[in-house]
Amino acid sequence: MSYNFTITKTATPKPKPDPNTLRFGKAFTDHMFLMDYADGKGWHDGRIVPYAPLELDPAAAVLHYSQSMFEGLKAYRSADRRVLLFRPYKNAERAQKTNERMCIPDIDKDLFVAAIKAIVEVEQDWIPEKKGTSLYIRPFIFADEAFLGVHAAHHYKFVIICSPVGPYYDTPDGGMLATSIFVEEEYVRAAPGGTGFAKVGANYAASLKAQQLASERGCEQVLWLDAIEHKYVEEIGTSNAFFVIDGEVITAPLHGTILPGVTRDSVIELLKKWGVPITERRLLIDDVRKAAQEGRLNEVFASGTAAVISPVGKLVFEDSEFAINGGEIGSLAKRLYAELYGIQTGDLEDTLNWTLTV
Ligand SMILES: Cc1ncc(COP(=O)(O)O)c(C=O)c1O
Repeated sequence: MSYNFTITKTATPKPKPDPNTLRFGKAFTDHMFLMDYADGKGWHDGRIVPYAPLELDPAAAVLHYSQSMFEGLKAYRSADRRVLLFRPYKNAERAQKTNERMCIPDIDKDLFVAAIKAIVEVEQDWIPEKKGTSLYIRPFIFADEAFLGVHAAHHYKFVIICSPVGPYYDTPDGGMLATSIFVEEEYVRAAPGGTGFAKVGANYAASLKAQQLASERGCEQVLWLDAIEHKYVEEIGTSNAFFVIDGEVITAPLHGTILPGVTRDSVIELLKKWGVPITERRLLIDDVRKAAQEGRLNEVFASGTAAVISPVGKLVFEDSEFAINGGEIGSLAKRLYAELYGIQTGDLEDTLNWTLTV
């Protein structure tokens, strides 16, 4: 199905930021995508307009009851000048699951991807080309109906904004950084039956306290444990977690409390293709600690759109800490990063058919 969106170009284009000093999520492009939903009318009036503040009624439901969702993916410019999106239908699929959980009206996957392609096409000159940079795309939906009362709204806005971004971690060569991770044994991110599998702002608001405490301890991120027993590893900050013990790669299963990362899925597929043992199963933090003490914890790394692969150099507990792989970046993390980044940027052959040309 094809979709027609109206396009109104800005009369005052902004200067593009210097690709050498780009940070994550600070600069925004000239335009944004907007679409409205009203009961009885469905999703309508898809349009690309100049980037500008949104006007909201102070009673807009999202401001009070957080009925909203978001997604995140990147566009890259390949050496042969194509604009590449990485597995955008996976984001569309996850958006549908989030919407269903949040009582937000469904958006057809083709419409979701068509809207992304349309805004990226308009903003393609904003895709930075320096190594490690890309155009981050942030689709989001929120309830903009004015009412006070806890029930699903009858009116929503679907918005897509784009941000040219630099490497997630501020290293001299824009490369990977071995992070320090605090094992959070008190606060939890998501409980069974909750919204852990959905990409909703409220999950992140609830995570800030632990993140603040972790950074006071000199750690970049938090390792979340399960909400019931506080014993099993789940996710690392805003990414999925992988542990390599005795050569076996282990990641938490998708039982409702973990965000089903697009990068996580891609890592699993690549490891299977390479014949590296990979298991989705529950893993006790005590077994991780024991493996570290016995020198059997080969590597820990996180996967996500923002940093692609983020190696862990140190696990910090309340009472102790362990260097992993001598604090050095592990070989599997390096290999996965090179392969994924190579496919995303079009430098490597896309044998798994993951990229979509805009
Ligand atoms: C909580 C959480 N887990 C995992 C991920 C990784 O997901 P993806 O690989 O789709 O970016 C993210 C990032 O979006 C996240 O916020």
